[in-house]
Amino acid sequence: MSDDIINRINKLKVEKNATIMVHNYQNPEIQDIGDYVGDSLGLAQIAKKTDADVIVSCGVYFMAETSSMLCQDKTVLIPDANAGCDMANMITPAELQVLKDKHPEAVVVTYVNSTAQIKAMSDICCTSANAVKVVASIPRDKEVIFIPDRNLGRYVASKLGRELIIYDKGYCPVHDRMLLQYAVRAKHEYPTAKIVMHPEGRLDVLEMADLVASTTGILDYCKESKAREFIIGTEIGILHRLRKENPGKKFYPLLQIADCPSMKLVTIDKILSCLENMEVEVRVDSEIAAKGVKAIDRMLEVSV
Ligand code: 13P
Ligand code: SF4
Repeated sequence: MSDDIINRINKLKVEKNATIMVHNYQNPEIQDIGDYVGDSLGLAQIAKKTDADVIVSCGVYFMAETSSMLCQDKTVLIPDANAGCDMANMITPAELQVLKDKHPEAVVVTYVNSTAQIKAMSDICCTSANAVKVVASIPRDKEVIFIPDRNLGRYVASKLGRELIIYDKGYCPVHDRMLLQYAVRAKHEYPTAKIVMHPEGRLDVLEMADLVASTTGILDYCKESKAREFIIGTEIGILHRLRKENPGKKFYPLLQIADCPSMKLVTIDKILSCLENMEVEVRVDSEIAAKGVKAIDRMLEVSV
């Protein structure tokens, strides 16, 4: 990586009072220049607090949209506007409306991996870090519609012993590909390793895991654990930070091909050009943003 590009990015950051926010799945060189690296919840919490004028959101589109909704007075840039989350596009407003019409009294809990329009039709958002807590905050006599991740929905339902109305057409193609047989094989190969899973995984695999947590939860657990070996059931971009922060420990991906192509669209060159040209700006229609931000803020209140 060229020092010249990094120097130019750093200079532009000062000139424009910009901050670079990076998701834990990004390419190593992007993580290494991030002012903040974290999970979806951390990215939203930091966006809400930052005093930067410009946020360069290095992740997928819904992450930039969430920052934009939370910081309507700031400029939010995404280095590649094609970096969409497949799961976020698996439910349309019309499909959500059908569910709402069928269950008019239900509280709509929406995973942040969703579009701004869907958030605007929801009561409260959640991330992988707080989904159980968010649903637990809703009185048990209330019906709950959980969208769009069927795997996260099934995990929350099993943790709380509570029936949820789960939209069954949404899932993460990267995590859904992690089949039970791969986890069994990995455990056979590395019997002393802890199995650590992201809750976007299938329930039968999550039931085998020593820990189910968000990407930052996974990083914290592996750092604090006395174990020396870990089987990592999430997107492989996380291995960079795991290995960097835990030089004496071993990390084995549960599935080597668990790679999210959208996350990897962000490059150092694109970050430079996005700061030079102040493009691509992510701005959510103000009416949609006003509604969506209520659902995000409700989640943030539950998370503190
Ligand atoms: P986290 O919020 O746990 O980082 O997860 C985001 C995501 O897209 C996982 O696939
Ligand atoms: Fe979306 Fe899955 Fe990629 Fe996460 S890993 S951004 S859920 S497609």
